[in-house]
Order: sequence, then structure tokens, then C-alpha cells
Amino acid sequence: MLTCYDTPSAQIQDACGIDVIFVGDSLATNVLGYAHQNDLSLAEMRHHVRAVARGIQRAYLLADIPQAVSQDLASILEAAEQLREDGVDGVKVEGFKPEVFTALAATEVDGWAHLGFTPQLIEKPAMQAKDSDSAEQLITESRQLEAAGAIGLILELVPAAVAQRVSQALKIPVIGIGAGLLCDGQVQVWHDLIGLETRVYKHAFRQSDAHAEQTKAVRAYIGLVAKS
Ligand code: KIV
Repeated sequence: MLTCYDTPSAQIQDACGIDVIFVGDSLATNVLGYAHQNDLSLAEMRHHVRAVARGIQRAYLLADIPQAVSQDLASILEAAEQLREDGVDGVKVEGFKPEVFTALAATEVDGWAHLGFTPQLIEKPAMQAKDSDSAEQLITESRQLEAAGAIGLILELVPAAVAQRVSQALKIPVIGIGAGLLCDGQVQVWHDLIGLETRVYKHAFRQSDAHAEQTKAVRAYIGLVAKS
């Protein structure tokens, strides 16, 4: 799974065989210049979901329910339906909200859960479930979300051994980020992977330096025009 925010990136990811293309609410910080994910509106999310959908021929399309419309069940369901009209197969909802997954299970949109570090709900990025009580709580909540109807779970910033236990305990796919390599799958942020984000996160599978490459291209262009 990779995050994605526009058509050409979706075309690349789709052609390469990424299983799940995910319009995360990191759209807010990575693309729209906001200070926080929670500054994202549903209208902005829908606009980018439609752009990504236009670039996909085969992959599964997942999108975050923005925090702005996550306050109550009715708003979440209405947003999920609008995002379905825009082309998503599933929506991701942060935090332990079993009632949301029960309700989504009765709709045409899949519900994906997100536990561990949940940026919409926890202010500072930090490893979660570090002691045995919170690890047990995470495993229990993961099981309950699966039982409620979640069809996948993202685990963010969780010790590898705990993420492995959750993956073994659940039948649904458990997709990790900063949660070791023993989950069923991995999700990464596109800008971190290609190096368009200049901060290098420990858990990012950075594969190129797009920031340096694009800077080089712009400088070369300025040089060419200046010479002509
Ligand atoms: O929005 C996002 O980038 C996320 C990450 C967990 C991939 O939710």
C-alpha cells in the first residue's frame, strides 16, 4: 500500500502493481501545505480522490475519512458514501470505533481501521503499545474491530513484536507503518518513498531523492533559458 494524491502518481503506482492506493489525509501536509492533517476538508479529500481514481485501472482505492467529518456516525457514513461516488473501494477511520465498522459493513464501502499512533487523535508522533497492558489493549481492540466488520487494519508506530501478534491474531490484513516487517503488508507515504519530503523518517523506505532531482531540473532550466 502507498499513499497517493494525484493522477500521474496513481498511474505509476497502478502500473507497478501496488495493491492498495491510498489517499491519506497526509494530503493536507504533503500536498496542500497545511500544518496538520486535521486541517483537511472533505471537499479537498474528494477532489484528490477523484484525481487518483482517474489514474487507476486495477488497484484497490482507499481514502481517509478526514477528521473534520469524523465527529459522529452519520457524518462518517455520509462522507463514506460521497467518497464511494468519487471512486473509492474502502475508507479508513482512525481510532477504536466499532460502531462505525458495523455500520459500514452494511454499506457498499469497506471499512478499514487504524490503531497505534493515530495522527487525527494523538498530538505528538510517538511509539504506542510499548508496555504489556497497552499491548494487550491494542490486541483486544484490534480483534473487536475485526469482529465489528473492519476489513483491514493499519497499525502505525507499534513495536514489531506487538504488530506481529496482532497480525497473527487477526484474519484481516494488518498493514504496518513504523511497526516492523512482520505485518501482513506495509504502507508508506509516497513523498517519503520518492524523497520529495526532505525529512527522512527512520521507518520510511526512501528509494530516491525527488527533491534533489526536481531542484536540479529547475536549476538546469534556469541555466538554459539564461544562456538562450
Ligand atoms: O494519511 C496517511 O499518510 C496515513 C499513513 C498511515 C500512511 O494515514
